[in-house]
Amino acid sequence: MIIIKSKDEILKMKKAGEILAACHRELRTFIRPGITTLEIDQFVEAFLKKNGALPEQKGYHGYPFATCTSVNDVICHGFPSQTLLVEGDIVTVDMVVNLDGWLADSAWSYAIGNVSEKSQKLLDVTKESLYKGIEQAVAGNRIGDISHAIQVFAEAQGFSVVRDFIGHGIGQEMHEEPQVPHYGPPHKGTRLKAGMVLTIEPMLNTGKYHSKIDQDGWTARTVDGGLSAQYEHTIAITEDGPVILTEQ
Ligand code: MF3
Ligand code: CO
Repeated sequence: MIIIKSKDEILKMKKAGEILAACHRELRTFIRPGITTLEIDQFVEAFLKKNGALPEQKGYHGYPFATCTSVNDVICHGFPSQTLLVEGDIVTVDMVVNLDGWLADSAWSYAIGNVSEKSQKLLDVTKESLYKGIEQAVAGNRIGDISHAIQVFAEAQGFSVVRDFIGHGIGQEMHEEPQVPHYGPPHKGTRLKAGMVLTIEPMLNTGKYHSKIDQDGWTARTVDGGLSAQYEHTIAITEDGPVILTEQ
């Protein structure tokens, strides 16, 4: 069942999204060569608490951290660790913010210092693919229109789209219906209606799309060792088109 949100509820989610966006803006300068992903995690947790919000991911199905920090070949759900980030790395920081019971979800990939041309292109194309998806998030379209727009754009640029992790409805729960794949045929799936709130969160790989999970039970990485990037926004479908609740 898809839970339709009122304008007032969407406003509450937007408040959570504003804190999340402000946190990502802070991370732009905080993330640099020589820091660890654990330091990023601690920074985020402190920032959210300072702003009266909670890190929803911490404790979610036993997930132990406030953020997922996914470095290089890690696709998503990477554990923050003591490993130093070095020039040339890419890292995705994903978080879900809970403000007064309403949630917002946004992941962003960051370059550590100067990165290779290929890495930079992966970041640029992945971000642009998110916005191609958002353009299709209009009432009357179907979920497949979002999925297809992302896949067509990503593959035309020579990248693959991860299949095993997808976007989702969100509200007072992190994962609600509907599911939002980032690949697939157009004009299929659930029809979009004003009041739906979804995440769109494409993960693109330089190599093949296949993923595997580490011994820790969470960390998902590319099977072929290729790089992976991700950008995610929480989007409200409204009569006036898509509204990005986590826009930085
Ligand atoms: N933010 C992630 C998503 O897009 C969820 C991370 S899984 C968690 O759905 F367990 F860490 F929360
Ligand atoms: Co999400």
